[in-house]
Amino acid sequence: MHHEDPQPMEFGPRGPLKGVATVPGDKSISHRALMFSALARGRSRIEGLSGGGDVMSTAAAMRAMGATINRTADGAWEVDGVGTGCLLQPETALDMGNSGTSTRLLMGLVASHPITATFVGDASLSKRPMNRVIDPLRKIGAEFTGAPGGRLPLTVRGLSPAAPASHVLQVASAQVKSALLLAGLNTPGVTRVFEPIPTRDHSERMLRHFGVNIRVEERDGGRDISLSGQAELQARPVTVPGDPSSAAFLAAAALIVPGSDVLIRGVSVNPLRAGLFELLQLMGGDLVLENPRDADGEPVADLRVRHSRLRAVTVPDRLVPSMIDEFPIWFVTAAFAEGTSRADGLGELRVKESDRISAMASGLTAIGVRAEESPEGLAIEGNGGAPVRGGGTILSQLDHRIAMSFAIAGLHAERPIGVDDMAPVATSFPPFLDTIESLAA
Ligand code: S3P
Repeated sequence: MHHEDPQPMEFGPRGPLKGVATVPGDKSISHRALMFSALARGRSRIEGLSGGGDVMSTAAAMRAMGATINRTADGAWEVDGVGTGCLLQPETALDMGNSGTSTRLLMGLVASHPITATFVGDASLSKRPMNRVIDPLRKIGAEFTGAPGGRLPLTVRGLSPAAPASHVLQVASAQVKSALLLAGLNTPGVTRVFEPIPTRDHSERMLRHFGVNIRVEERDGGRDISLSGQAELQARPVTVPGDPSSAAFLAAAALIVPGSDVLIRGVSVNPLRAGLFELLQLMGGDLVLENPRDADGEPVADLRVRHSRLRAVTVPDRLVPSMIDEFPIWFVTAAFAEGTSRADGLGELRVKESDRISAMASGLTAIGVRAEESPEGLAIEGNGGAPVRGGGTILSQLDHRIAMSFAIAGLHAERPIGVDDMAPVATSFPPFLDTIESLAA
């Protein structure tokens, strides 16, 4: 719940972005690497872990529940796990900071252990709905007491042995799915989760990597997942690929700033994360996936992105889940396309770190872009690639992706764009400013 001092900044036009960049390790995969290695028996080594604040919240929580987690001299991390079923009772509340993923996944983990944990977080996290995890976890026997509406601060009393259950996801959410799978790890019997709409599958891939018996079958366009409980996880080395959700900001910047040509190395291109890249190609963006390869069960590539003339699009429904975190920067990109772009079915964006539909609609309006908000969508009138008017000060609302989106817009604006607080960027992409700086130099 600790707050950095607000960090107001202004972003003005910069010359072409050129050169090679890397991005921090994928945030979603980093959380899972820490949780699973902390649950395994033995020592795991993690390379490429994100150093962002959200992932550090997970590390602190796993330490509080008994794991030993240290950074090595060469920048990797070593984790000595406790073994499934052996999490310790944390002595104080677990501070989740800004991190919804830490909170929801750990609620699942605690739910099937004989411990009680209280979760607290910052003002943004304390507004976010947790009933989507609480309701299904009650079915296995865990008890919850939270602030009204199922919000933080929230106490979970786990039950061991918990009862195995079959769940059907009510929201397309990898966090909910993963919470239920994590709860299943220390539950006897088979835990089943059906997701009607496939969401990021990092948990499934990495559980397999740690030796867990997990089966995934495609059914009716969705996925049926079954996991055998009381699973002994084996300590394993993990290499975390670069975060596509961070790479998205650099890719967008290269597309909209004239003369740019950027190579972003080692980015996860998991099909359930790569929706934005496909959409940018549909818009005429010169974005190429080079040198595709595998990193411990996750597909990876280098992204080559050059400045492009973009055409407006309506986002196909099938791409929405695989670009759910990328809408803020895509809205900005659409402001530089030819014609009006539209996206709908984005109700989930209203319960992210901020209400991202309304935050982006008001921010875009403040910098001279016509944006029309609807209950679950946004339409953005593009200007064909000219600089946006700019000016104004954007409220980032403790949301890293809102802050970074408008920082990128400022790179091709007539007047500098102010962002009231860039501090939230440290939750996912601490070297964001340095990376932009080095590409623009
Ligand atoms: C995440 C899942 C998504 C995403 C979040 C990370 C994960 O949330 O927005 O940034 O790591 O499982 P939902 O599960 O709420 O869609």
